[in-house]
Amino acid sequence: MTFEGLLRPSVKNIKEYVPGKSIEEIAQKYGLDPGKIIKLGSNENPLGPSPLAVSAIREKARKIHLYPSSDALELRKAISACTDYPVGNIVVSGNGMDGILDTIMRLFITPEAGTIIPIPTFAYYEIATLANGGKPVFVERNSDFAIEPESILDKVNESTKMIFLCSPNNPSGNIVSEKDVRKILESVNAIVFVDEAYADFSGHTLMGLVREYDNLIIGRTFSKAFGLAGMRMGYAVVPQWIAREYMKVMTPFSVDVLSSVGGIAALNDKEHLKKSLETVKKGRIQLSKGLVPLCKVYPSEANFIPIDVSPRTAAEVSESLLRKGIIVRDCTSFRGAGQSLIRITVGTEEQNEKVIEALGAIL
Ligand SMILES: Cc1ncc(COP(=O)(O)O)c(C=O)c1O
Repeated sequence: MTFEGLLRPSVKNIKEYVPGKSIEEIAQKYGLDPGKIIKLGSNENPLGPSPLAVSAIREKARKIHLYPSSDALELRKAISACTDYPVGNIVVSGNGMDGILDTIMRLFITPEAGTIIPIPTFAYYEIATLANGGKPVFVERNSDFAIEPESILDKVNESTKMIFLCSPNNPSGNIVSEKDVRKILESVNAIVFVDEAYADFSGHTLMGLVREYDNLIIGRTFSKAFGLAGMRMGYAVVPQWIAREYMKVMTPFSVDVLSSVGGIAALNDKEHLKKSLETVKKGRIQLSKGLVPLCKVYPSEANFIPIDVSPRTAAEVSESLLRKGIIVRDCTSFRGAGQSLIRITVGTEEQNEKVIEALGAIL
C-alpha cells in the first residue's frame, strides 16, 4: 500500500534545493585534508562569526533549559535600533531568510496563486511557491542580468500574489534600481518581496520604501555580512499590517535563545561588520582583476563574483577546482543560468589568490 496519493500534487513537482558543497563531502569524495579545503561556494563570511556573538552565545549556553520569548522581542528591538523602524515593522525567523520566505508565503499563497520570479535567481522562491501550493511564473533577465519592469508587469494577472526581486541578485551580483521597484510596486495588486541578503555589501537598500508602500517587504539575513550562517537567523522589515498577520502564523519560539543573543551581539559588533565589508570590497577587486584575463567576469555588488567560463562548462571547471580542494558554486542548477556560470564567494586575500592561480591553470 502506498500513501503517496495523499501528497499535495504541487509537492511532486518540486526539484530539491541544491546547496553549495560542504567541506566534509569534498574531503571524503576526493580524499583531501578537510583543513586545507577552501570553501567559496556558499557566500559565507571568510572572517568567521563576530567574536562578540561567540562570547554572548557561550555565556547564554547555561540558560538553554529555558524557552526563549515567543515573539523574539529583544532581538526585534535590536533590529529596530539598527533599521530605524519600530518593532511593529520587524519580523524574524529562526530558520534564516528561508524561514521568513516560507512564513510570508503561508500568508499569501493560495492554490492557483502565482508568484513572479525573474531568473536566474535564488532557487528557494520557486521551491517555497510550489511547497505552498502556488504557481511560479518565470521572467528572463536581460543578457547583463538586469530586470525589465515591463516584462515583469506583462506577466502580472489577477492571480499574481507575490513578485520576488533579489538585490544584489544571487547569482548575478547586480542590484535593482529604486525607480524600477517603485514602478512595479505602484502597478500591481501584489506583494513585492525585495531580498536584500547581500545588501550590506552593496551599500544600497530599499528599506526606507517600506514607509511608503504597504505592499513591500525587505528580507534580510544574519548569514552573510554578520557571519552567522550556521545559526539560521533572518528578519524582514514589513508594513505593520503584515507583521501582525506574520506573528499569528509564525512558529512560536522560532528564534532560539542562543541565536537571539548571538544576533544582538553581532548587530552591535560594528568592528567585525566593518572588517567584513572591507574584506569583501578589497577581495572583489582582487578577484576581478585576477580573473579578467581568464574569462568573462561580471561586475558584482555582493560578496561573490559571477564568471562565465564558456566554451568550457561550469560543471567541468568546478569539478577541476574541487579536485584541487577549492569549492565554488557551479550555477547550472539555477534555472535560466545556462551551462557556463560559476559563482565564487569572495574569500580572504590568500584564498582569492589560490582561486585565481587554480583557475589560471585550469582555463
Ligand atoms: C539571495 C538569498 N536570499 C536568501 C538566502 C537565504 O539566507 P538564509 O541563510 O538567511 O536562509 C540566501 C542564501 O544564500 C540567498 O542567497
